[in-house]
Amino acid sequence: MKTDLELEIIELKKKHNALILAHYYEDGDIQDIADHVGDSLFLAQKGQENTADVILLAGVVFMAESVKILSPTKTVLVPDMNAGCSLVTSSPIKDYRAWKEAHPNSVLVSYINCSAEAKTVSDIICTSSNAEKIIAAIPKDKKILFGPDKNLGNFLKKKTGRDMEIWQGYCEVHVKFHAEELYKLISKNPEDVVIAHPECDEEVLNYASVIGSTSRLLEEVKNNPAKKFIVATEDGIFHQMRKLRPDAELIQAPDQSACNCTQCPYMKLNNLEKIRNALRDLKPQVHVDTNVIEKARVSLDRMMKVSRDEAVTF
Ligand code: 13P
Ligand code: SF4
Repeated sequence: MKTDLELEIIELKKKHNALILAHYYEDGDIQDIADHVGDSLFLAQKGQENTADVILLAGVVFMAESVKILSPTKTVLVPDMNAGCSLVTSSPIKDYRAWKEAHPNSVLVSYINCSAEAKTVSDIICTSSNAEKIIAAIPKDKKILFGPDKNLGNFLKKKTGRDMEIWQGYCEVHVKFHAEELYKLISKNPEDVVIAHPECDEEVLNYASVIGSTSRLLEEVKNNPAKKFIVATEDGIFHQMRKLRPDAELIQAPDQSACNCTQCPYMKLNNLEKIRNALRDLKPQVHVDTNVIEKARVSLDRMMKVSRDEAVTF
């Protein structure tokens, strides 16, 4: 049965012709009230391909900015404007632009976890679910700069064999998973399947049999008949994993010191009250300057095209 708060949200959605998009790292009650739940690429695609007037993005602000850049006429809301991301703060535009300018003939591939301004100086955007495809679309004679996530960058460098210069940003949550503790766990239970998000440190990724986006990890839990999974990503994803595999045991990969710091503090700022308030008051709204939208759209559009197997030039 729905609570009064949930019923209020459903009414407000109808009133404003609004759509709720939620990331897998949100709490279960948010995921359950959303129209669509998914990874970063899926949310950007759903934000673009619908007829809603208002989109509420239950995730972090860079995700909502991407929706606004791709659909500038829509009203884009976030439950909490403070929902940042350490990858955004680790790529300040002044330094990021200077890096790109120092390599004029290179192609700058930026992970979607960056600011709208960082997207304006990028040649193409990627997410963790399409990054290998994006790299493959870049001519072999082009030098590649990859930012801002160093772990995803190093993973891609190894996977694709392409030479890349990599920005040294990181996700403050995923770097907390601890390789030694993970090793201790799997030495006791060698049959457990370790799956990890590519934002984890290389030492952790070395123990994983599957490395991928949140949707890829979910797919693995769905299709792999194993009974126990050790999951090196944010625990919001367990909500959908448990629905798909109620028979499986799911444990989050260990951190160094039981620090309770492998939850994303930004994703977890959101809650149903804030979603109700945002839909009721139509704020906070995400604003991106028109000139930033125009430039950032080029790199995001290129990503969308490559994802649809369309050709792009650099
Ligand atoms: P996904 O695109 O894999 O959902 O990742 C988003 C993110 O922020 C991971 O920390
Ligand atoms: Fe950013 Fe990391 Fe949170 Fe993802 S989990 S939104 S990369 S801080």
